[in-house]
Amino acid sequence: MDGLRLLLDLCTKAVLNREVIEECFRITTRPDELALALLLPFAGRLSCSVRGDNSPHVKSGGICVLRNWEADYEKYLKAIESSLSNVVTEISTDHILQFGDARSYEFPEFDGLFTSPPYPNHRDFVSMFKPEQELLGLLGEENNEIHRYRMDDIIGSNFVSESLPRSPKSIKVQEFIQAISGLKRNLNAQSDDEKYYIPYFQNYFADLEMAYENVSHSLKNGFEGYIIVVNNTHRGLIIPVADFIVETWENMGFNAEIINKNELFHIGTKNPRARGTRARHTRYEIRVWD
Ligand SMILES: C[S@@+](CC[C@H](N)C(=O)[O-])C[C@H]1O[C@@H](n2cnc3c(N)ncnc32)[C@H](O)[C@@H]1O
Repeated sequence: MDGLRLLLDLCTKAVLNREVIEECFRITTRPDELALALLLPFAGRLSCSVRGDNSPHVKSGGICVLRNWEADYEKYLKAIESSLSNVVTEISTDHILQFGDARSYEFPEFDGLFTSPPYPNHRDFVSMFKPEQELLGLLGEENNEIHRYRMDDIIGSNFVSESLPRSPKSIKVQEFIQAISGLKRNLNAQSDDEKYYIPYFQNYFADLEMAYENVSHSLKNGFEGYIIVVNNTHRGLIIPVADFIVETWENMGFNAEIINKNELFHIGTKNPRARGTRARHTRYEIRVWD
């Protein structure tokens, strides 16, 4: 309750409220929303919640330490100030937003690509993208258009039971699936792999192949793109997303190479007790070009 009261005070008293925003940013459109957006990341500091067993899930309740929160708030505001001072303020009017399923959408021709696919990391992507879905839904309502995915259109969706068996073309993926089948596991793990994980990975990679193939039809000569991806693991095996991307783009007749990689962290996402290779997350930057 104390945390909530402090947050309300921060919104309503002269800290991050409409007047301060209008004065600092010299804007008059939707200052309340900007004030709330700036305050939102700090709300976690004043709330008490604990990580659930499944790390993407948060349980409310617990202890919130309020000591020194003012100093943290000042640090937070200074961090925003320094980030905003680096933001490029040039405004381009050429941008257009288009919404569609990357596996089938008819893109206009383009010559640059900067993208990052969903990562197969045992998380429920459909729940993870719910906030995005809500925002898209709202934007759609403003224009009387449907801007929501059907849940099983989301690449990495874990609705596997209703889909037909899929066979990704990639050799790297086929080797990975064979490696899962060859693992020594107990019967439960074997059944989980057969009924869920293998169909899940097959869907994921087959969908990405479809998306890249579809995108490739709209690329102009001389095109250049960058794809950022994180390789996770499944039962100690690396899920070869980065190698799969290089292979897929090369098979489509493009050049592709990993230009950078770094280990992000090595603690399990679903099981925070997992350590080492079992839980490794490595981030790759891949350049693809014509
Ligand atoms: C790792 S996120 C990257 C998002 C974005 N590039 C960014 O950096 O904010 C993957 C994105 O793929 C989107 N996605 C999932 N399935 C899709 C599909 N069938 N067509 C287009 N986008 C899809 C998700 O909604 C999500 O926004």
